[in-house]
Amino acid sequence: MSPLPPLKARAGLDEHGFQEQLRIAQARIERVLEDALATRDSAAPRLHAAMRYGVLDGGKRLRPLLVYITGSALGAPLDSLDAPAAAVELIHAYSLIHDDLPAMDDDDLRRGRPSCHRAFDEGTAILAGDALQALAFTVLARGTSRLPEGTRLQMLGVLAEAIGTEGMAGGQAMDLDAAGHAGDPASLEQMHRRKTGALIRASVQLGALAAGAVSVEVRRALGEYGAEIGLAFQIQDDILDVTGETTVLGKRTGADAAHGKPNYPSVFGLERSRALALEHRDRALGALTGMGTATTALRALAHYVVDRVH
Ligand code: IPE
Ligand code: IPE
Ligand code: MG
Ligand code: MG
Ligand code: MG
Repeated sequence: MSPLPPLKARAGLDEHGFQEQLRIAQARIERVLEDALATRDSAAPRLHAAMRYGVLDGGKRLRPLLVYITGSALGAPLDSLDAPAAAVELIHAYSLIHDDLPAMDDDDLRRGRPSCHRAFDEGTAILAGDALQALAFTVLARGTSRLPEGTRLQMLGVLAEAIGTEGMAGGQAMDLDAAGHAGDPASLEQMHRRKTGALIRASVQLGALAAGAVSVEVRRALGEYGAEIGLAFQIQDDILDVTGETTVLGKRTGADAAHGKPNYPSVFGLERSRALALEHRDRALGALTGMGTATTALRALAHYVVDRVH
Protein backbone atom coordinates (compact mmCIF):
# COMPACT_ATOMS: atom_id res chain seq x y z
CA MET A 1 0.00 0.00 0.00
CA SER A 2 1.24 3.50 -0.74
CA PRO A 3 -0.64 5.79 1.61
CA LEU A 4 -1.74 9.27 0.68
CA PRO A 5 0.86 11.80 1.72
CA PRO A 6 -0.04 13.93 4.75
CA LEU A 7 -2.40 16.70 3.75
CA LYS A 8 -1.60 20.24 4.59
CA ALA A 9 -3.66 21.74 7.36
CA ARG A 10 -6.69 23.49 5.91
CA ALA A 11 -8.92 26.04 7.45
CA GLY A 12 -11.64 24.27 9.37
CA LEU A 13 -10.01 20.87 8.99
CA ASP A 14 -9.48 18.73 12.03
CA GLU A 15 -6.17 17.47 10.69
CA HIS A 16 -5.74 14.73 13.25
CA GLY A 17 -9.30 13.45 12.90
CA PHE A 18 -9.07 13.43 9.12
CA GLN A 19 -5.73 11.60 9.03
CA GLU A 20 -7.17 9.03 11.40
CA GLN A 21 -10.22 8.59 9.19
CA LEU A 22 -7.95 8.08 6.17
CA ARG A 23 -5.76 5.61 8.01
CA ILE A 24 -8.75 3.52 9.06
CA ALA A 25 -10.28 3.53 5.58
CA GLN A 26 -6.95 2.65 3.94
CA ALA A 27 -6.29 -0.28 6.24
CA ARG A 28 -9.87 -1.41 5.79
CA ILE A 29 -9.84 -1.44 1.97
CA GLU A 30 -6.66 -3.52 1.93
CA ARG A 31 -8.39 -6.18 4.02
CA VAL A 32 -11.58 -6.05 1.97
CA LEU A 33 -9.68 -6.39 -1.33
CA GLU A 34 -7.57 -9.24 0.02
CA ASP A 35 -10.77 -10.98 1.02
CA ALA A 36 -12.39 -10.40 -2.39
CA LEU A 37 -9.33 -11.95 -4.07
CA ALA A 38 -8.74 -14.85 -1.70
CA THR A 39 -7.89 -17.99 -3.64
CA ARG A 40 -11.01 -19.89 -4.56
CA ASP A 41 -10.42 -21.17 -8.07
CA SER A 42 -7.46 -23.47 -8.30
CA ALA A 43 -8.32 -24.36 -11.90
CA ALA A 44 -7.01 -21.03 -13.20
CA PRO A 45 -4.11 -20.22 -10.89
CA ARG A 46 -2.25 -17.98 -13.35
CA LEU A 47 -5.32 -15.84 -13.99
CA HIS A 48 -5.97 -15.59 -10.28
CA ALA A 49 -2.36 -14.62 -9.57
CA ALA A 50 -2.55 -11.90 -12.25
CA MET A 51 -5.75 -10.53 -10.72
CA ARG A 52 -4.14 -10.34 -7.29
CA TYR A 53 -1.03 -8.78 -8.80
CA GLY A 54 -3.09 -6.08 -10.48
CA VAL A 55 -4.98 -5.14 -7.34
CA LEU A 56 -2.98 -5.81 -4.18
CA ASP A 57 0.05 -4.02 -2.74
CA GLY A 58 -0.22 -0.76 -4.53
CA GLY A 59 -2.18 2.30 -5.45
CA LYS A 60 -3.41 5.28 -3.56
CA ARG A 61 -6.92 3.80 -3.19
CA LEU A 62 -8.48 7.19 -3.90
CA ARG A 63 -11.73 5.76 -5.27
CA PRO A 64 -12.51 3.52 -2.27
CA LEU A 65 -11.55 6.38 0.03
CA LEU A 66 -14.16 8.50 -1.70
CA VAL A 67 -16.77 5.80 -1.09
CA TYR A 68 -15.88 5.57 2.60
CA ILE A 69 -15.62 9.31 3.13
CA THR A 70 -18.81 10.21 1.28
CA GLY A 71 -20.78 7.43 2.94
CA SER A 72 -19.42 8.29 6.39
CA ALA A 73 -20.22 11.97 5.86
CA LEU A 74 -23.84 10.93 5.30
CA GLY A 75 -23.94 8.58 8.28
CA ALA A 76 -23.47 5.19 6.61
CA PRO A 77 -21.75 2.54 8.74
CA LEU A 78 -18.34 1.47 7.39
CA ASP A 79 -19.37 -2.13 6.79
CA SER A 80 -22.10 -1.00 4.39
CA LEU A 81 -19.41 0.75 2.34
CA ASP A 82 -16.99 -2.16 1.96
CA ALA A 83 -18.63 -3.67 -1.13
CA PRO A 84 -18.90 -0.46 -3.19
CA ALA A 85 -15.40 0.57 -2.06
CA ALA A 86 -13.95 -2.74 -3.25
CA ALA A 87 -15.99 -2.66 -6.46
CA VAL A 88 -14.63 0.72 -7.61
CA GLU A 89 -11.03 -0.28 -6.89
CA LEU A 90 -11.46 -3.61 -8.72
CA ILE A 91 -12.79 -1.70 -11.74
CA HIS A 92 -9.93 0.79 -11.48
CA ALA A 93 -7.35 -2.02 -11.33
CA TYR A 94 -8.92 -3.65 -14.39
CA SER A 95 -8.74 -0.34 -16.25
CA LEU A 96 -5.05 0.09 -15.42
CA ILE A 97 -4.17 -3.44 -16.57
CA HIS A 98 -5.87 -2.85 -19.92
CA ASP A 99 -4.58 0.73 -20.18
CA ASP A 100 -0.99 -0.56 -20.00
CA LEU A 101 -1.40 -3.20 -22.72
CA PRO A 102 0.67 -2.82 -25.91
CA ALA A 103 -2.53 -2.10 -27.85
CA MET A 104 -3.30 0.83 -25.55
CA ASP A 105 -0.51 2.78 -23.80
CA ASP A 106 2.13 0.06 -24.00
CA ASP A 107 3.52 0.83 -20.56
CA ASP A 108 5.86 -1.60 -18.85
CA LEU A 109 5.83 0.00 -15.39
CA ARG A 110 2.87 0.37 -13.03
CA ARG A 111 2.86 1.11 -9.31
CA GLY A 112 6.63 0.75 -9.28
CA ARG A 113 6.82 -2.71 -10.80
CA PRO A 114 6.32 -4.45 -14.14
CA SER A 115 2.83 -3.92 -15.52
CA CYS A 116 0.56 -6.97 -15.47
CA HIS A 117 1.17 -8.09 -19.08
CA ARG A 118 4.92 -7.84 -18.43
CA ALA A 119 4.80 -9.83 -15.22
CA PHE A 120 2.48 -12.41 -16.81
CA ASP A 121 1.57 -12.25 -20.51
CA GLU A 122 -0.82 -10.29 -22.68
CA GLY A 123 -3.54 -12.90 -22.83
CA THR A 124 -3.53 -13.37 -19.07
CA ALA A 125 -3.58 -9.60 -18.53
CA ILE A 126 -6.61 -9.20 -20.81
CA LEU A 127 -8.43 -11.95 -18.94
CA ALA A 128 -7.38 -10.59 -15.54
CA GLY A 129 -8.96 -7.26 -16.49
CA ASP A 130 -12.12 -8.98 -17.71
CA ALA A 131 -12.38 -11.09 -14.57
CA LEU A 132 -11.75 -8.12 -12.26
CA GLN A 133 -14.56 -6.24 -13.94
CA ALA A 134 -16.90 -9.19 -13.39
CA LEU A 135 -15.67 -9.58 -9.81
CA ALA A 136 -16.46 -5.92 -9.10
CA PHE A 137 -20.12 -6.48 -9.97
CA THR A 138 -20.22 -9.76 -8.06
CA VAL A 139 -18.84 -8.07 -4.95
CA LEU A 140 -21.22 -5.12 -5.32
CA ALA A 141 -24.30 -7.31 -5.87
CA ARG A 142 -23.49 -9.71 -3.03
CA GLY A 143 -22.23 -7.16 -0.55
CA THR A 144 -25.31 -4.95 -0.71
CA SER A 145 -27.88 -7.62 0.08
CA ARG A 146 -29.03 -5.77 3.19
CA LEU A 147 -29.89 -2.64 1.23
CA PRO A 148 -33.32 -2.15 -0.36
CA GLU A 149 -33.60 -3.83 -3.76
CA GLY A 150 -34.11 -0.50 -5.52
CA THR A 151 -30.93 0.94 -4.02
CA ARG A 152 -28.93 -2.11 -5.01
CA LEU A 153 -30.13 -1.86 -8.59
CA GLN A 154 -29.31 1.83 -8.64
CA MET A 155 -25.80 1.09 -7.40
CA LEU A 156 -25.21 -1.54 -10.07
CA GLY A 157 -26.55 0.87 -12.69
CA VAL A 158 -24.36 3.75 -11.52
CA LEU A 159 -21.23 1.61 -11.73
CA ALA A 160 -22.16 0.08 -15.10
CA GLU A 161 -22.93 3.45 -16.67
CA ALA A 162 -19.71 4.98 -15.37
CA ILE A 163 -17.55 2.44 -17.13
CA GLY A 164 -19.39 1.92 -20.42
CA THR A 165 -19.40 3.83 -23.67
CA GLU A 166 -20.56 7.05 -22.03
CA GLY A 167 -17.95 6.65 -19.32
CA MET A 168 -14.58 5.00 -18.97
CA ALA A 169 -14.57 2.74 -22.06
CA GLY A 170 -15.83 5.58 -24.24
CA GLY A 171 -13.18 7.90 -22.83
CA GLN A 172 -10.47 5.34 -23.49
CA ALA A 173 -11.75 5.02 -27.07
CA MET A 174 -11.49 8.80 -27.47
CA ASP A 175 -7.96 8.56 -26.06
CA LEU A 176 -6.99 6.01 -28.72
CA ASP A 177 -8.57 8.11 -31.47
CA ALA A 178 -6.75 11.22 -30.27
CA ALA A 179 -3.28 9.70 -30.69
CA GLY A 180 -1.33 11.50 -33.35
CA HIS A 181 -3.62 14.53 -33.30
CA ALA A 182 -2.99 17.89 -31.67
CA GLY A 183 -6.22 17.68 -29.69
CA ASP A 184 -8.71 20.41 -28.99
CA PRO A 185 -9.81 21.73 -25.59
CA ALA A 186 -13.44 20.59 -25.75
CA SER A 187 -12.79 16.99 -26.75
CA LEU A 188 -9.87 16.72 -24.33
CA GLU A 189 -12.15 17.74 -21.47
CA GLN A 190 -14.83 15.28 -22.62
CA MET A 191 -12.27 12.51 -22.88
CA HIS A 192 -10.99 13.16 -19.35
CA ARG A 193 -14.47 13.43 -17.87
CA ARG A 194 -15.22 10.04 -19.33
CA LYS A 195 -12.06 8.00 -19.01
CA THR A 196 -11.29 9.04 -15.42
CA GLY A 197 -13.94 11.43 -14.12
CA ALA A 198 -16.86 9.05 -14.52
CA LEU A 199 -15.51 6.36 -12.15
CA ILE A 200 -14.46 8.93 -9.56
CA ARG A 201 -17.93 10.48 -9.73
CA ALA A 202 -19.47 7.01 -9.40
CA SER A 203 -17.36 6.37 -6.28
CA VAL A 204 -18.92 9.41 -4.61
CA GLN A 205 -22.40 8.45 -5.82
CA LEU A 206 -22.07 4.89 -4.53
CA GLY A 207 -21.04 6.17 -1.10
CA ALA A 208 -24.12 8.37 -1.07
CA LEU A 209 -26.43 5.57 -2.24
CA ALA A 210 -25.16 3.24 0.47
CA ALA A 211 -26.09 5.89 3.03
CA GLY A 212 -29.75 5.54 2.06
CA ALA A 213 -32.18 8.44 2.18
CA VAL A 214 -30.30 11.39 0.73
CA SER A 215 -32.10 14.34 -0.81
CA VAL A 216 -32.03 14.91 -4.56
CA GLU A 217 -30.17 18.19 -3.96
CA VAL A 218 -27.41 16.55 -1.94
CA ARG A 219 -27.10 13.77 -4.47
CA ARG A 220 -26.82 16.29 -7.29
CA ALA A 221 -24.24 18.34 -5.38
CA LEU A 222 -22.15 15.25 -4.68
CA GLY A 223 -22.40 14.17 -8.31
CA GLU A 224 -21.02 17.52 -9.39
CA TYR A 225 -18.31 17.38 -6.73
CA GLY A 226 -17.28 13.93 -7.97
CA ALA A 227 -17.28 14.93 -11.63
CA GLU A 228 -15.18 18.03 -10.95
CA ILE A 229 -12.55 16.34 -8.78
CA GLY A 230 -12.51 13.53 -11.34
CA LEU A 231 -11.59 15.94 -14.12
CA ALA A 232 -9.10 17.77 -11.87
CA PHE A 233 -7.54 14.41 -10.99
CA GLN A 234 -6.86 13.55 -14.64
CA ILE A 235 -5.54 17.05 -15.37
CA GLN A 236 -3.08 16.58 -12.50
CA ASP A 237 -2.20 13.12 -13.87
CA ASP A 238 -1.38 14.79 -17.21
CA ILE A 239 0.67 17.47 -15.45
CA LEU A 240 2.61 14.84 -13.50
CA ASP A 241 3.25 12.97 -16.75
CA VAL A 242 5.29 16.05 -17.75
CA THR A 243 6.68 17.33 -14.43
CA GLY A 244 6.71 14.23 -12.20
CA GLU A 245 9.40 11.67 -11.52
CA THR A 246 9.15 8.02 -12.53
CA THR A 247 10.50 6.82 -9.18
CA VAL A 248 7.87 8.82 -7.28
CA LEU A 249 4.97 8.07 -9.62
CA GLY A 250 5.80 4.38 -10.08
CA LYS A 251 5.04 4.76 -13.80
CA ARG A 252 7.01 6.17 -16.70
CA THR A 253 6.79 9.90 -17.19
CA GLY A 254 6.52 11.36 -20.67
CA ALA A 255 4.24 8.50 -21.70
CA ASP A 256 1.63 10.73 -23.35
CA ALA A 257 4.16 12.60 -25.49
CA ALA A 258 5.91 9.35 -26.39
CA HIS A 259 2.64 8.09 -27.88
CA GLY A 260 1.74 11.37 -29.52
CA LYS A 261 -1.26 11.67 -27.21
CA PRO A 262 -2.65 15.11 -26.49
CA ASN A 263 -2.95 15.95 -22.81
CA TYR A 264 -3.64 19.12 -20.82
CA PRO A 265 -0.06 20.45 -20.87
CA SER A 266 0.31 19.79 -24.62
CA VAL A 267 -2.98 21.53 -25.45
CA PHE A 268 -3.09 24.29 -22.82
CA GLY A 269 0.50 24.63 -21.62
CA LEU A 270 1.60 23.83 -18.07
CA GLU A 271 0.59 27.08 -16.44
CA ARG A 272 -2.93 27.11 -17.84
CA SER A 273 -3.33 23.40 -17.04
CA ARG A 274 -2.50 24.12 -13.42
CA ALA A 275 -5.00 26.98 -13.37
CA LEU A 276 -7.68 24.72 -14.88
CA ALA A 277 -7.02 21.98 -12.32
CA LEU A 278 -7.53 24.55 -9.54
CA GLU A 279 -10.63 25.89 -11.27
CA HIS A 280 -12.24 22.45 -11.31
CA ARG A 281 -11.18 21.84 -7.70
CA ASP A 282 -12.91 25.10 -6.79
CA ARG A 283 -16.05 24.07 -8.64
CA ALA A 284 -16.01 20.84 -6.64
CA LEU A 285 -15.65 22.81 -3.41
CA GLY A 286 -18.42 25.14 -4.54
CA ALA A 287 -20.76 22.19 -5.10
CA LEU A 288 -20.35 21.27 -1.42
CA THR A 289 -21.42 24.70 -0.22
CA GLY A 290 -24.38 24.46 2.05
CA MET A 291 -23.79 20.83 2.98
CA GLY A 292 -22.27 21.72 6.37
CA THR A 293 -19.28 20.49 8.33
CA ALA A 294 -19.80 16.85 7.38
CA THR A 295 -18.00 17.65 4.14
CA THR A 296 -14.67 18.57 5.78
CA ALA A 297 -12.98 15.38 4.62
CA LEU A 298 -14.42 15.68 1.10
CA ARG A 299 -12.99 19.19 0.91
CA ALA A 300 -9.59 17.94 2.01
CA LEU A 301 -9.68 15.30 -0.73
CA ALA A 302 -10.51 17.94 -3.35
CA HIS A 303 -7.33 19.77 -2.34
CA TYR A 304 -5.34 16.56 -2.31
CA VAL A 305 -6.35 15.73 -5.89
CA VAL A 306 -4.54 18.77 -7.29
CA ASP A 307 -1.73 19.06 -4.69
CA ARG A 308 -0.53 15.48 -5.01
CA VAL A 309 2.85 14.62 -6.47
CA HIS A 310 2.02 10.99 -7.20
C1 IPE B 1 -4.05 6.42 -12.52
O1 IPE B 1 -4.88 6.45 -11.41
C2 IPE B 1 -4.85 6.35 -13.77
C3 IPE B 1 -5.78 7.45 -13.94
C4 IPE B 1 -7.05 7.25 -14.05
C5 IPE B 1 -5.28 8.80 -14.01
P1 IPE B 1 -4.30 6.58 -9.95
O2 IPE B 1 -3.32 7.71 -9.91
O3 IPE B 1 -5.42 6.63 -8.99
O4 IPE B 1 -3.49 5.22 -9.80
P2 IPE B 1 -3.15 4.36 -8.50
O5 IPE B 1 -4.35 3.55 -8.19
O6 IPE B 1 -2.79 5.29 -7.38
O7 IPE B 1 -1.98 3.52 -8.92
C1 IPE C 1 -5.85 6.19 -17.68
O1 IPE C 1 -5.33 7.39 -18.12
C2 IPE C 1 -7.34 6.19 -17.63
C3 IPE C 1 -7.85 4.85 -17.34
C4 IPE C 1 -7.12 3.84 -16.97
C5 IPE C 1 -9.26 4.64 -17.49
P1 IPE C 1 -3.75 7.40 -18.32
O2 IPE C 1 -3.34 6.51 -19.43
O3 IPE C 1 -3.29 8.81 -18.36
O4 IPE C 1 -3.28 6.75 -16.93
P2 IPE C 1 -1.77 6.45 -16.56
O5 IPE C 1 -1.04 7.75 -16.68
O6 IPE C 1 -1.28 5.41 -17.51
O7 IPE C 1 -1.84 5.98 -15.15
MG1 MG D 1 -4.18 5.77 -21.15
MG1 MG E 1 -1.74 5.07 -19.43
MG1 MG F 1 -1.50 9.53 -17.46
